[in-house]
Amino acid sequence: MTIERTFSILKPDATARNLTGAINALIEKAGLRIVAQKRIRMTREQAETFYAVHKARPFFGELVDFMTSGPVVVQVLEGEGAVLKHRDVMGATDPSKAADGTIRKLHAKSIGENSVHGSDAAETAAIEIAQFFSGNEIVG
Ligand code: CMP
Repeated sequence: MTIERTFSILKPDATARNLTGAINALIEKAGLRIVAQKRIRMTREQAETFYAVHKARPFFGELVDFMTSGPVVVQVLEGEGAVLKHRDVMGATDPSKAADGTIRKLHAKSIGENSVHGSDAAETAAIEIAQFFSGNEIVG
């Protein structure tokens, strides 16, 4: 395994319930280092660009509405096999299918309001990170 980076979002349902610290504790306990983090309000344009791959899906409008409905925390996580490690600690997209102890099992409200996002591959992570962070904001 090599050290890699992945992109993470703590979504509006998580910030609304003041869960930033609780979720960060699970991320750090999983062996990931938060090497960049900022709390932002996503614009519609940012959300539409970020989720462009889902544009044709029936839930696209709902997804953009939700992601712009409140503050989010965007993060860069670093560690050995960070993409997979993060996906493991997040749990399945649908919280009813997520394993015990995962972020989504513990905190997500539904498949839409599922508390966290994580990149699905290292290549996607690089693109997602570049959308929200400049190089000097990431301190490993
Ligand atoms: P995320 O990992 O951020 O990437 C795409 C998001 O679309 C996903 O998490 C879910 O929050 C959302 N999503 C996936 N399926 C559905 C669905 N059936 N209804 C609403 N939102 C969905």
